[in-house]
This record gives sequence, C-alpha cells and structure tokens, in this order.
Amino acid sequence: MKKHIVVIAGDGIGQEVTAVGQQVLDAIAAKYNHEFTYDTALIGHAAIEATGNPIPEETITKSKASDAILFGAVGHPKYDNDPSAKVRPEQGLLGIRKALGLYANLRPIKLFDELLSASSIRPEILKGADILFFRELTGDVYFGERGRKDEGNTAYDTMIYSRYEVERIAIKAFDAAMTRRKKLCSVDKANVLESSRLWREVIQEIAHRYPEVEVEHQFVDAAAMLLIKDPKRFDVVVTGNLFGDILTDEASQIAGSMGMLASASIGDTTGLYEPIHGSAHDITGKGVANPLASVLSVALMLDISFGMKAEADAVVNAVDSVLKAGFRTRDIADPSTPAEKILGTEQMGAQILQRLNA
Ligand code: IPM
Ligand code: MG
Repeated sequence: MKKHIVVIAGDGIGQEVTAVGQQVLDAIAAKYNHEFTYDTALIGHAAIEATGNPIPEETITKSKASDAILFGAVGHPKYDNDPSAKVRPEQGLLGIRKALGLYANLRPIKLFDELLSASSIRPEILKGADILFFRELTGDVYFGERGRKDEGNTAYDTMIYSRYEVERIAIKAFDAAMTRRKKLCSVDKANVLESSRLWREVIQEIAHRYPEVEVEHQFVDAAAMLLIKDPKRFDVVVTGNLFGDILTDEASQIAGSMGMLASASIGDTTGLYEPIHGSAHDITGKGVANPLASVLSVALMLDISFGMKAEADAVVNAVDSVLKAGFRTRDIADPSTPAEKILGTEQMGAQILQRLNA
C-alpha cells in the first residue's frame, strides 16, 4: 500500500521520539512491501519561532492532504511561567485537533507484564488491567468562551457541550466496547455541572442501541479514586476533554510511565497519532527520552488509519520483546535494572528495529 504521512515533531523531545517512530514506519514499509512517503510540518514553539504562528496554515493544508499524521509534542517552559503570553505552543495542538475535526482521542492503557514493577501501584492491583479511554477532544472548557471581566480581575472559561458532540464520541466508545469486554463507564460531574447532565442524558440514550454493553456512570472524582484502587474494573471509559486529560495522565501510572502511552486522535478525516507525554524540556537533547510511546503510536496508526493489523501487531510484539529482553529507558527502569540494560532513545529504537528487521 502507498501512504503519505506528515511528521509533525514539534517541540522538546518530540523531535527525538518521532525520529524513532519514523524509522519504525520505514522498517514496516520494507518488511511488508509498502511505500510510505513523508512530509514534515511545523507546530508549537518551533512554528512560533519560524513563523510567529503556532499552527501555520501550511501545516493544516499538508495534514489534510495526508493519510496520517505522526505527531511529537508541543510546549516550551518559557510560556509556562508567563500567564500573559497571548501566543502559546499549545494553541498549535488544540488548533490542529479543531481544524481536522479530531474529536475522539483514544488512549489505550495496557500494562506490559514486564513493567509491573515500574509502576508505583502494587503489582497485584495492576496485573491484567486493560482500559481504553475515549477522551472527547474538540469541545468542553478547552474551546468554550473564555475571557476576563471586571478590568481583568475576574476570569472565566465555559464548559460547554452540544448533543451531537456527545453522541459521536459515545458511538465510537460503544462500538469499541462491543469489540472488547462490553463494559462502558461514562465519567462526568453530573451532580454539579449542567454540561455533564446533558452528557449523561445522551450516553443513556445511546446506550439503548447497545443492549449488550453494561453501562455505568461515575463522577469524575470517584473515577479518579477507582482508577488507582481497582483499575481492572474498567474496560472502555468515555469522558469529556478536561476530565479525560486529567484521568489519562493519572492512568498512565497503570502502564508504568507516561513514556509508554500512545494515543490516536480520530475524526472523520486524517488521524493524528501522538504520545500522551509532553515536550519534557528537562530531558530534551539528552537522548534519554523513552521513544516507545511514539513507536506504539505508529502501531495505532498502522491499525486504525491504514487497516494494517499484522504490521501493527509486529510493532507491539517488537516492544514486548525488547522489554522481555530486559531493556529499559530511564523512566521505566527500576532499582533492579542492571546499568547496561538502561538505554537511551536511539539505542532503544535500535533494539526495536533489530527485531522488526529480523
Ligand atoms: C494532552 C496535553 C494537551 C491537552 C496540552 C499540551 C494542550 O496535555 O494532549 O493531553 O491538554 O490536551
Ligand atoms: Mg494531557
């Protein structure tokens, strides 16, 4: 198959980890006789530096014309402590999600058995946990009206959802539940928020179409607690943009490290594949970032956007095999990991490629 991929590495470790992701794509193309062509585009701080705009029009045009997007990360510490900055790298990521209508963010939380001891949660609680988050991605307080009043002394962000926005993510989540353990947990804050009451209403309506799926509703505070207390009780979780952002960072601990978690952002057109971790400027340029979230994002791309199931499995199996051989990046190492097994970004990539090329 011929596929055209836009690589948007972005900021910080985004460059280092997507480089490995792209090598994995090349290895898959060679092994399975596909032809993958690439283009690159700017976003985030890198785009601000080059053009003044965190999401240049050209990036959107190239993305729309591609079959999939391999994304790195956005962010720069210089903005984090400057609340007055009007132009921010994150606007790039939010902008591309909106421009491409990527309303469903799939974040699979699956623990590789070898990483049981990398988590701060007890192994017996974690073992067997397998959760698929559907985070709504183009609505909520992220895109509602915001501003200042009272001469700047009062600020507001609006949490807002429309029926169609809840319906379309609910359908994706229920469809996924049907292919898994047929359990769906919808997370909201319907005891307080009106937007959550609409959310719950719509989920209940859609649930009638899926009588085989066992549905539960949890308030976000309780869900946050249950995720750590008993992660195995969850199968598919569907939630709004803000709650999903927070809960999936929390859930990353179930998988051992943020450095392991991949995500797919899909809508009705080109899908975007990115690690859930950020730009991590504290380790940028040191060559120690974990590239496995980018590698696993490639697996999601092959599976979801290209329908290449065997190729996707080959990538996941390569990750599994590298972990089984005891190799770790710093973030997933534990005190028992021998120093010679702790690899940098490129070395970890080389281990993956070696298995794919075998
Ligand atoms: C994520 C990130 C982004 C978000 C930031 C960088 C805007 O935290 O993808 O989870 O909040 O969506
Ligand atoms: Mg986040």
